[in-house]
Amino acid sequence: MRTYYLRSFGCQMNEHDAERIRALLEAEGLERADQPDSADVLVYNTCTVRKSADERLAGHLGTAARLKREDAGRIVLVTGCLPQAEQDAFFRRFPFVDGALGPQNLHRLPELLAAAVEAAQPGGRPPGFFADGPLMSGDLTARRERPYQAWVQIMSGCTNFCSYCIVPQVRGPERSRGLDTIVSEVRGLVADGVREVTLLGQNVNAYGLDQRRRGRGGAADFPALLRALDAVSGLARVRFMTSHPKDLSHGLIRALAELPSVCEHVHLPAQAGSDRVLAAMNRGYTAAAYLERVHALRAAVPDVSVTTDLIAGFPGESEDDFAQTLELMRAAAFDAAFTFVFSPRRGTAAAELPGQVAAEVKRERVERLIVLAQELALGSRRRWVGRRAEVLVEGPSRDGKGLRGRTRQNVTANVSGAIEPGAIVEIEVTGATSTTLRGRA
Ligand code: SAM
Ligand code: SF4
Ligand code: F3S
Repeated sequence: MRTYYLRSFGCQMNEHDAERIRALLEAEGLERADQPDSADVLVYNTCTVRKSADERLAGHLGTAARLKREDAGRIVLVTGCLPQAEQDAFFRRFPFVDGALGPQNLHRLPELLAAAVEAAQPGGRPPGFFADGPLMSGDLTARRERPYQAWVQIMSGCTNFCSYCIVPQVRGPERSRGLDTIVSEVRGLVADGVREVTLLGQNVNAYGLDQRRRGRGGAADFPALLRALDAVSGLARVRFMTSHPKDLSHGLIRALAELPSVCEHVHLPAQAGSDRVLAAMNRGYTAAAYLERVHALRAAVPDVSVTTDLIAGFPGESEDDFAQTLELMRAAAFDAAFTFVFSPRRGTAAAELPGQVAAEVKRERVERLIVLAQELALGSRRRWVGRRAEVLVEGPSRDGKGLRGRTRQNVTANVSGAIEPGAIVEIEVTGATSTTLRGRA
């Protein structure tokens, strides 16, 4: 086994896991291949949050099956949330897969590879490592894909059990990493040239609360973690995601307002605008409480960008409920929104609810969400024209003519001027689309 090919799907947590998979495989002496046909080991790091994610993967696994038929010595491994959700049934569905493990078992990847090579002999049974208890892959080293930015996992798992969501099943219970471990990881990243970190967790606002529940009364909470990271010298920017509205505290709003390195962006998934639907989703807030938090944020933090996730067609959602999601979008004036069609997931409460909404109705509703989200995003970007914005330059722009970076509000900016990647510059914003700013350094 000399080379590996890795393809990853899903959220940023999974992207970060992919960086750790690379580090683990490279520590085993494997080299990266950019195409599946030239690799000895194929790894697919999967997501299963919606049916569309499963379908996308099936296409890629079709390619893997064909390559395996061409060369039976190739090893196909599947990691991430899908095999964790399906466990042994996964191998019945994809019999050509040589081994699989769930996200809580990432550290066992070298062991899995060795076992898979052995089991690939005639008569072997593919190994599967699936967790049912809390394991933490947070301390594994990552092979970073980006020179100036890094993901830092501050928590794993989720214990919120939103009724539509499969994540608590596949990622296990909420667990926070220790503050000192995180700070020392960030110091190491800064020494390696990183200027911006993004703290990752399904609900970062609950950071440390699990430790307190387990008896570590003095454990730091999320605002305290932000304060400790703001004090790391040489670190220019701190981002975080995802924030759960029910745990967005005044302490966090204060931290955002006061700490220079903490970027003015909060991704705060609202999911819906009807209190009846929010209750059925088990979200733990009302639309009014959500808006109160957004207004408090906007009042305390100038230029803060508030982005969100929204689901169309949750079971029982009436046209009137749906109209309240549109109303909430306008009232919150979202700077950007990710919109999803409700997808029933096996083992979740919402999959069993009566009143499942017809596919065409869900489609038509999500289209209306998209139109409004684009209108709001364009308004939000246009307000920057004629103003100055701070950009961390990441690399060449897509058209190759200039450079591309991101503002503190997490908006992509195409920048002209004599600047280098890695620089943090002020730009004069000269133009805007619903997704991108344009400007001169
Ligand atoms: N932990 C985050 C939170 O609390 O919102 C995000 C978790 S999930 C990876 C990202 C988004 O996927 C959710 O915010 C939700 O909008 C969407 N999502 C999750 N399950 C879904 C489902 N069954 N159908 C449609 N969208 C779903
Ligand atoms: Fe899923 Fe809710 Fe947990 Fe987010 S907070 S991961 S939506 S269960
Ligand atoms: Fe998908 Fe797993 Fe993330 S299901 S959204 S990759 S936590």
